[in-house]
Amino acid sequence: VDSVWVLAASMGKDEVLRGKLVCLRDIPLYKSFVEGWPQVEAFQARHDDLLIATYPKSGTTWLSEILDAIYNDGNVEKCRRDAIYNRVPFLEFNAPAIPSGVELLEKTPSPRLVKTHLPVHLLPASFQEKDCKVIYMARNAKDVVVSYYYFYQMAKIHPDPGTLSEFLQAFMDGKVPVASIPTPASPQDPRREVQKILQFLGKEVAEERVAKILHHTSFQEMKKNPTANYETMPTALMDHSLSPFMRKGISGDWKNHFTVAQNEHFDHHYQQHMAGSDLCFQMEA
Ligand code: A3P
Repeated sequence: VDSVWVLAASMGKDEVLRGKLVCLRDIPLYKSFVEGWPQVEAFQARHDDLLIATYPKSGTTWLSEILDAIYNDGNVEKCRRDAIYNRVPFLEFNAPAIPSGVELLEKTPSPRLVKTHLPVHLLPASFQEKDCKVIYMARNAKDVVVSYYYFYQMAKIHPDPGTLSEFLQAFMDGKVPVASIPTPASPQDPRREVQKILQFLGKEVAEERVAKILHHTSFQEMKKNPTANYETMPTALMDHSLSPFMRKGISGDWKNHFTVAQNEHFDHHYQQHMAGSDLCFQMEA
């Protein structure tokens, strides 16, 4: 977790996976999100909004739960007041018959936590104008692909991902939302990251409350917490019997999925993609 934006480089995209996504300024997005785009573009950020920015499947829900717990001074029972997608609205979310992210945010009292997967050039201008704080979280891109592959199957907004091999290619081709390949990151120590966040936010939380936050946001706890695990979403949107949202919560699951050839191909693609970038990373072996 770090307080920086990682600029997303877009890749050539003449088509999107199985034609079920649409491109917005070269970035594949869900059709319903693009239909709600005027609302998103006009969104009025407030100066004390905190933006949680991630590539999908990088641990957004985990970070959101940690931040909500911090905003409630470690009183984790207060985090159970509502589902995570209502406590930390998803800015660009738009789907029929459900409040959009913007609608939820307009009703949310300050200080608000705002989730987004948008690359920086698609973000509403008001975030910059209001000088909002941003926390960007990154995860090893190989683990992201695997997590995304299962998520594609259970979250019905997605087209059929095909085989893992097909999905891997679509990911490398930038044909999945939100196109750009995420930055790699090493496994992190949750306690150290929570301390970093507290420092960034200028907040003090007593040590025993930090311990409560860490317990409350552990994978095992979040997996069984209906206000964190997305099980309250209608099955028509997310079918946990196909793959639970809280799937494994580990680093390195890609090693159980990638063949040697796929791994080499991915590494080669990644190096090319990052060439010329001053973001220099070494992927975990
Ligand atoms: P896996 O599918 O690899 O298990 P996002 O919230 O950005 O959609 O990311 C979801 C991924 O984060 C899933 O990864 C999920 O299991 C993992 N995750 C969620 N909460 C977690 C926690 N408290 N600890 C570790 N991983 C967590």
